[in-house]
Amino acid sequence: MTKIIYFGGSKGGTGKTTTSHLFCLGAILWNQPAAYVLTDPERKVRGEGRPYAVLDGRNPSNLANILSAAQNSLNGWLIIDGGGNRPALDQEISNFADLSVLTFRPSEEDLDTVATDLSRLSKAVAWPTAWPTNAFAQRAAQFYIDGLCEAFPNRVILNPIPFVNSVSELLGSSLNSPSQPVRSVSKKVFCIIEDFIKKQIN
Ligand SMILES: Nc1ncnc2c1ncn2[C@@H]1O[C@H](COP(=O)(O)OP(=O)(O)OP(=O)(O)O)[C@@H](O)[C@H]1O
Ligand SMILES: [Mg+2]
Repeated sequence: MTKIIYFGGSKGGTGKTTTSHLFCLGAILWNQPAAYVLTDPERKVRGEGRPYAVLDGRNPSNLANILSAAQNSLNGWLIIDGGGNRPALDQEISNFADLSVLTFRPSEEDLDTVATDLSRLSKAVAWPTAWPTNAFAQRAAQFYIDGLCEAFPNRVILNPIPFVNSVSELLGSSLNSPSQPVRSVSKKVFCIIEDFIKKQIN
């Protein structure tokens, strides 16, 4: 069976694309099939050198074909990268995705937007990304997670994705041999989502 994970949300630059690629790489490193779907018409398809398929869903009819083909044949993970500020797409895809994830970085602006998106998309969950790794900054950033959890119980993934300097290599035109820090965080990203889905089912 194919699991469809959607990374969306109305703010740009929150980590949707990076986290989508991290997830796909992580799936492959755990020997599970995965494909990445680009939906943002402003972006280019960058599939070269990647161990997972990169599909072009920028055109709505292509996207519909990809979704129906994946449901029938992929038997793995289909990761849809939403691209910022398209509330109609967020609404539509989050209705049938197995999980819709709204990434947010530690800032007031991200927090405001993710809270609005959580209210709008009743099935979506929020995930802290590019999170500080030093103890002092982490304590300060925890304020954002705690506030969101209080307002939206059970709708925040509590293991933040750490800030990793070399993740930008994932967004390059080709990905030949990912660095050790990127491989390691990608494996974690995959496990966190897999566990979260298992807990939701149980
Ligand atoms: N875990 C991370 N560690 C360090 N930097 C990160 C991490 N996740 C994302 N970033 C950085 O944040 C910036 C925005 O990330 P990304 O392009 O993935 O966001 P996006 O939500 O897809 O943006 P857009 O809305 O423009 O499509 C990039 O420079 C990326 O390298
Ligand atoms: Mg993006």
